[in-house]
Amino acid sequence: MRVLVIGRGGREHAIVWALSKSPKISKLFCAPGNGGIAGLAECVPIIELQFDEISTFAKEQAIDLVMVAPDDPLAAGLVDHLESKGIAAFGPRANAAIIEGSKVFMKQLLKKYSIPTAAYESFDAYEPALAYLRSQTAPIVIKADGLAAGKGVTVAQTMEEAEAALKDIMVGQVFGASAGASVVIEEFLTGQEMSLLAFVDGSTVRLMVPSQDHKPVFDNDKGPNTGGMGTYSPLPHIPESIVQEALVNIVQPTADAMVAEGRPFKGVLYAGLILTPNGVKTIEFNARFGDPETQVILPRLKTDLLDIFLAINNGTLAEQPIEWSEQAAVCVIVASPGYPGPYPKGLPITGLDQVQDALVFHAGTAVDENGQIVTNGGRVLGITGLGKDIVEARQKAYADADRIHFEGKHYRTDIAMKALR
Ligand code: AMP
Ligand code: GLY
Repeated sequence: MRVLVIGRGGREHAIVWALSKSPKISKLFCAPGNGGIAGLAECVPIIELQFDEISTFAKEQAIDLVMVAPDDPLAAGLVDHLESKGIAAFGPRANAAIIEGSKVFMKQLLKKYSIPTAAYESFDAYEPALAYLRSQTAPIVIKADGLAAGKGVTVAQTMEEAEAALKDIMVGQVFGASAGASVVIEEFLTGQEMSLLAFVDGSTVRLMVPSQDHKPVFDNDKGPNTGGMGTYSPLPHIPESIVQEALVNIVQPTADAMVAEGRPFKGVLYAGLILTPNGVKTIEFNARFGDPETQVILPRLKTDLLDIFLAINNGTLAEQPIEWSEQAAVCVIVASPGYPGPYPKGLPITGLDQVQDALVFHAGTAVDENGQIVTNGGRVLGITGLGKDIVEARQKAYADADRIHFEGKHYRTDIAMKALR
């Protein structure tokens, strides 16, 4: 089969890496890809939202399956576009990807089907939103409705911060007019977070191994939120009964609700969960693999990933064997100086050839005119160590993270420590 992956980050590098092991694939492309993906797939200079260019390329190259990894093209209907041209695509259609694309949709769905989530109200005008906010107390959470590159959520510790966030979203439209046209104001929940991803083909749900992200930029969860500074899997401190509770109370009912709404979800459904004293609750749903969760999940997958994608598209996921390794995986993100604020690009990266044990997934790299790999994004590399347990996987990830250099590189030193305390 000839397969095209859409996207350019560490997640896409991990997907391409997993697919590259499939004996069924004769040719892999990635659009647009990055400096690391280029070693495994032919990178094509077409970007994620160039739908016509993608379908034309897929026709010309006789592509058998297009795997759409990122949120933007899914929400904008790339899968629908490809299907309308007779091209097979993996990922939810726009009417199902809306579970990530609109937080108001997601919250209304969960409320309608009594699926546990933070209590909330949603508003499409500033004045009533402000009046409601003033009737609440901090801490409180303000969320822009639409996609905002992971930055649309403010966990406000004070009412001043909450009012400023609301104003930025609805009046300042800092995430754009469309993403900021509506807001969700919700109850602040406390507890450990868990990312529970699942393969879903409508009503069949097959959980992947659980993982945990680290969103704040600094150790001990200090500093502003990022796209994710590291992940690990499994979560030895979280009992299997909690994972089962999440499946039975949240993930399965949500897949069933999407079917009932005439929006069957086919693809990867990502539940962002919080383990509160009152049970597991939903923070968010994403309509895709997580980044950097994928960089610890796929290295633990023993089954051919392509077989799972095809089973989902054929509606035979229930019969598809899916096997996971017992190994632990820890991914440390190495970021650009300044990230998640402004950062330089084009810094030469050295030491990639010194890496010993870990898998190196490129997130934001490019190859310059001299063939040198350089930084090209905020999150630059994800270094995944594998071992018999979290301690060994961590040690391998950090040992190799230290062998790689670029000016001003930084990473959190406490990835996976929540499992060890
Ligand atoms: P999201 O972009 O929806 O994943 O939210 C980003 C982060 O904000 C989450 O990973 C949580 O750490 C935090 N967050 C979101 N909603 C809540 C909530 N209701 N209570 C506490 N923290 C939250
Ligand atoms: N790691 C968070 C996300 O992919 O949304």
